[in-house]
Amino acid sequence: MVDKRIVVTRTVPESALDVLREVGEVHVCTQDRPLTPAELREAVRGAHAVVAMLHDRIDADLVGAAGPQLQVVANVAVGYDNIDVPAVTDRGVIVTNTPGVLVDATADLTIGLLLMVTRRLGEGERLLRARQPWTFRLDFMLGTGLQGKVLGIVGLGGIGQAVARRARAFGMDVVYTGRRRAAADVESELQARFLPIEELLGTADVVSLHCPLTEQTRHLIDKPALAAMKPTAYLVNTSRGPVVDERALAEALRERRIAGAALDVFEREPEVEPELLELDNVVVVPHLGSATTETRAAMVELAARNVAAVLTGGAPLTPVRS
Ligand code: DGY
Repeated sequence: MVDKRIVVTRTVPESALDVLREVGEVHVCTQDRPLTPAELREAVRGAHAVVAMLHDRIDADLVGAAGPQLQVVANVAVGYDNIDVPAVTDRGVIVTNTPGVLVDATADLTIGLLLMVTRRLGEGERLLRARQPWTFRLDFMLGTGLQGKVLGIVGLGGIGQAVARRARAFGMDVVYTGRRRAAADVESELQARFLPIEELLGTADVVSLHCPLTEQTRHLIDKPALAAMKPTAYLVNTSRGPVVDERALAEALRERRIAGAALDVFEREPEVEPELLELDNVVVVPHLGSATTETRAAMVELAARNVAAVLTGGAPLTPVRS
């Protein structure tokens, strides 16, 4: 059994390695940064399985570099825009991702960002850390309440639904858009109303992005989309950076054409548009959506179980279909 080579492109929790060691010889790339494309090509040579991260570009070329024995690429992320899925699966390689296990962590972070930007928490913290003078005053650093406001969700999948559920508990009304209508029972549980995107943008007090990055969603939030939002509205993005045209967003925020934005992901990650960092009405965090100890362990374990299933001749648990 240990003749199968399993390459893990970054350090992962030990619990997942135990699962992998039962089905093959595990090689973990322990460098403290993403592998360069050339290093990745070299690392996967001869691999039967690759446990990949969202920054690893996996395409036909990489599959070719790995060799014909490659059976599975297990992405440790629910998003798989880093993988050319048709090109990889056409070569007989199974692709898997980690849906479900990161829903709650990502939804929690989304609500955290929503509160940070609407209640100006980052601004308040920066003020104190800069040791600026302040006193309690009735009109000091006022934010926006959420009760009775409209949350516009773009992409009512698992994470979008979990965000909607939490937002309902804050007294928000929920509208959503996406490629298709949600099931009737989901709409009725969340009291969520479907709207075409143009209408959602003009209605929502907060627009929260939960769609995958595809050719259809790249720059979905561009200059016209931002212009369609209310000047009092906020944008929250915990999906993928390129869903938003970051330069257009910086301009809209600078000119106060929208009230604020809270971003966990960036168009040219890990680079952040410098202008965004200058603006008070922006909250930025470094791609932390799933970053809890429990969730990261669950993600890697699911990826490992996918590898184990495929290498032992079984069906993958969470395959990505092209
Ligand atoms: C994902 O899983 O796609 C997130 O962006 C990282 O957890």
